[in-house]
Amino acid sequence: MNNLVLEKLKENSGQYVSGQILSEMLGVSRTAVWKYISDLKKDGYIIDASSKKGYRLILSSDVLNSSEISYGLKTDKLGKTVYYFDEIDSTNSYAKKAASEGCGDGTVIVADCQKSGKGRLGRQWNSGPGTGIWMSVVLRPDILPEDIQVITLAASVAVVRAIKAVTGIITGIKWPNDIILDGKKVCGILTEISTEMEQVNFLVLGIGINVNHTDEDFPEDLSKVATSLRLYSENKCNYPNEQICGKIFNRSEIIKGVLIELEGLYENIKKGNIRGIIDGWKKYSVTLGKEVIITIRNSKYTGVAQDITVDGRLRVACSDGVVREVLSGEVSVRGLLGYV
Ligand code: BTN
Repeated sequence: MNNLVLEKLKENSGQYVSGQILSEMLGVSRTAVWKYISDLKKDGYIIDASSKKGYRLILSSDVLNSSEISYGLKTDKLGKTVYYFDEIDSTNSYAKKAASEGCGDGTVIVADCQKSGKGRLGRQWNSGPGTGIWMSVVLRPDILPEDIQVITLAASVAVVRAIKAVTGIITGIKWPNDIILDGKKVCGILTEISTEMEQVNFLVLGIGINVNHTDEDFPEDLSKVATSLRLYSENKCNYPNEQICGKIFNRSEIIKGVLIELEGLYENIKKGNIRGIIDGWKKYSVTLGKEVIITIRNSKYTGVAQDITVDGRLRVACSDGVVREVLSGEVSVRGLLGYV
């Protein structure tokens, strides 16, 4: 019954629905409706109750669970199976195990909190509860292992587009797939793969987005280089109409946005339209044309990032006159994440 009440409130997207109408539609007493509303509030939904007008679901309620993610999700494959956990070690570790046991293409793992969130290059990923999106997507593309980088780039394009579509906030991409907001990192992507000879068994796209973090949610060293959508919206944006909108974002809606965008790009990759992904990536790049430091086999080179090759390598015109291409590893971009 709670689900029915919730659906009616959602159908009326942000408008009041009277207790009388709800009780008639659902065939229960007004006291029962009041009780269901109380339960929904306990689950984290923000519902405005007015004795004259009835009940109104505040659209930016941030409730994360598998039914919220599945509700209205307009994809064919991605997110059709969602595993949600309040707490997990790492969604990527779970996804890799599920994939090796045969879970389907497009299976999604989401957690509210990760105890051992993993970052790139063996780093830890700060993933406390009630703050971010910690999700992994299992993909089984029929592509060659050398084309995997393009999927990683597509994931960052999908995140930029989803954040824009759901929150209106414009972010950029630091090569290969850090999402940057206000010079700081708002999202990181960790791709893990299982390959055999010329074949990709599966790929896990691990996406971590800092959504509703306040300053206190970041340890001191991290707050210099990391931000969240909420922090940005409080400090920089101007949302005049809604008290809550723009402060606490709905993680389930952003997840849905990522899945919708990613599915479109994934279909393009499967059809061989790799050029389109690279062009999409370039559009959001905050790397190209900038001074960078690249690390290749423990040697550091400075230069200017010139282009992305068709297989996703960053091409850098180095100050020693040599043009170098990097496929993975560390790249610092002047003006971002503490490189001044
Ligand atoms: C990076 O270092 O930039 C990549 C961070 C990736 C973090 C995400 S959160 C969901 C998924 N599970 C993990 O353990 N890591 C990724």
